[in-house]
Amino acid sequence: MKQPVARLVGTGRYTPSKIMTNADFERMLDTSDEWIRERTGIRERRIAEAHETVAFMAKVACEQVLEAAGVSVEDVDTLILGTATPDRPLPATACDLQAQLGASNAAAFDLGAACSGFLFGLTVAEAMVGNGSARNVLVVGGERLTTITDYQDRATAILFGDGAGATLVQPAAGDGRGILATYLRSDGRLADLLYRPGGGGNHPPDQGLLEDRSYYMKMAGREVFKSAVLSMADACDQALQRAGIAGQDVDILIPHQANIRIIEATAKHAGIPMDKVYVNVDRYGNTSAASIPIALDECVRAGRITAGSLVLLVAFGGGFTWGSVAVRW
Ligand SMILES: CC(C)(COP(=O)(O)OP(=O)(O)OC[C@H]1O[C@@H](n2cnc3c(N)ncnc32)[C@H](O)[C@@H]1OP(=O)(O)O)[C@@H](O)C(=O)NCCC(=O)NCCS
Repeated sequence: MKQPVARLVGTGRYTPSKIMTNADFERMLDTSDEWIRERTGIRERRIAEAHETVAFMAKVACEQVLEAAGVSVEDVDTLILGTATPDRPLPATACDLQAQLGASNAAAFDLGAACSGFLFGLTVAEAMVGNGSARNVLVVGGERLTTITDYQDRATAILFGDGAGATLVQPAAGDGRGILATYLRSDGRLADLLYRPGGGGNHPPDQGLLEDRSYYMKMAGREVFKSAVLSMADACDQALQRAGIAGQDVDILIPHQANIRIIEATAKHAGIPMDKVYVNVDRYGNTSAASIPIALDECVRAGRITAGSLVLLVAFGGGFTWGSVAVRW
């Protein structure tokens, strides 16, 4: 097993207080609480209000991380924000976050890997810490998916919610704790299974954008589901193999929270019983890049992750992107 070069210190999260239940969708769309729960496992999701921007939610999560880690904001040298829903097209939302947080000595950038963004961010942070170019990297996942969700499309509207989560990546202490393995992959041939056709350079904002609803996320649900099951299995295999561990060694699996059926298939493939799998998709729906750091913070604060726990993080998302990170906490 490799000696970790980087470790995770401190966690934080922010979820809006406004809740949208399945019953709320029953009043808006041709759907039912029973269908949504059976097909996805989701009961409710959080909805950001006007002041709850990605930068705002991420700031609260980052402040919790710094407090837990005992690190001052001036010591943050890098700020990586995984997001598919920046607050504005320019600049990077990470720069707005930097300003609001007061992380004046940091380099800040957004990372676009959709729901895998937090794990891509952790991997970049580990590399920067490993080559000596950074010592305190805030890695954040923050999303306001409700701003790009089409509430006339019952197949996608029910899935998504808002929130943010974060952690700090620092040099390892040489005690065997830290990041044991990382694995990242993408397959751009699958891009059109989950995408936003309009609003970028190919279709700049115009009247047509509002009429054809191409500003919103489009998804081929069944195809995404199949690819997700395969890529989550691949991500588990790769992290376990690279870390030199087996499924039964894992204390807790934190999968991207998209659909309970994908989570169960992933756990089964990895040989990890469901009592070692963290699930909160019922309460938040899919919060994309925020889903794993929100879950991580819930686990840490509830005492489900303690010093020495072996934690496996696994994600997939639009792009397609997928990946995994194994951590000795
Ligand atoms: C979206 C998803 C829940 C749909 O479940 P599914 O079992 O694949 O259902 P299908 O898309 O095959 O649709 C089955 C039927 O349910 C209907 N349906 C879709 N959404 C519905 C809803 N909210 N309520 C009721 N019926 C719905 C469909 O119209 C279809 O009806 P039809 O048979 O009359 O055509 C599922 O495909 C999924 O979770 N995919 C992955 C999505 C994901 O994780 N995206 C994020 C990636 S990070």
